[in-house]
Amino acid sequence: MKTLEKLYEGKAKQVMATDDPHRIIIHYKDDATAFNNIKKATILNKGILSNAISTLIFRHLEANGIPTHYIDTLNERDQLCKKVQVFPIEVVVRNVIAGSMARQLGLVEGHEPKNTIYDICYKNDELGDPLMNDHQAVALELVTYEELAEIYQLAGRINEVLKELFRKINIKLVDFKVEFGKTEEGAIVLADELSPDTCRLWDSETGEKLDHDRFRRDLGGVREAYEEILRRLESSTK
Ligand code: TMP
Repeated sequence: MKTLEKLYEGKAKQVMATDDPHRIIIHYKDDATAFNNIKKATILNKGILSNAISTLIFRHLEANGIPTHYIDTLNERDQLCKKVQVFPIEVVVRNVIAGSMARQLGLVEGHEPKNTIYDICYKNDELGDPLMNDHQAVALELVTYEELAEIYQLAGRINEVLKELFRKINIKLVDFKVEFGKTEEGAIVLADELSPDTCRLWDSETGEKLDHDRFRRDLGGVREAYEEILRRLESSTK
């Protein structure tokens, strides 16, 4: 498999074409960004840790019947994935009130509502990835109602599998962001990554934050938190 030109560069990853038109390579960088690129830093080996964590999570989801774009992990920083048409929406699943929801609604972080909360955001850097509703997403032709129904259903199944995975390693899955894409055959699959960059993960006993909020909120110990998540996941998925 030969790596060809760069198709896209995101905040924490690059997407490379390959000599197989149906396959791409996702390359994990050490860059950390927050607040739509206003805050930036490089965290040594974060890309290696996120690739390793995302690999374990995608393999676990596949083993539990969730369709994903993941094929294989090629080396410390590269994953081989199916080329899919990514929907320009981000889906956020929340089990605990935190982050932007707490800010927007004036709530205290940490409350666990009885229901699961699903947000969708328009993937648009210029606009700062604004929150939108289903009708707006359909009106902008980003997705159809039928596709949204399937996406929400998949997001709910992913949440159940991941809550249980993290519960076993004493981590509370507070919230996470996922993206979905369509394969050439028309199937909707999980795409992008799942790592402490895209999830809020709190230690179940101490409440310690073991995710990207350590960077966003200047708490220090970002790499150590990612290492701790990897260590616990490796011990439970062995
Ligand atoms: P939020 O509370 O800031 O909206 O974030 C919700 C979840 O989505 C949290 O786990 C972090 C993740 N997230 C991303 O992965 N990328 C982003 O650009 C943002 C804003 C959040």
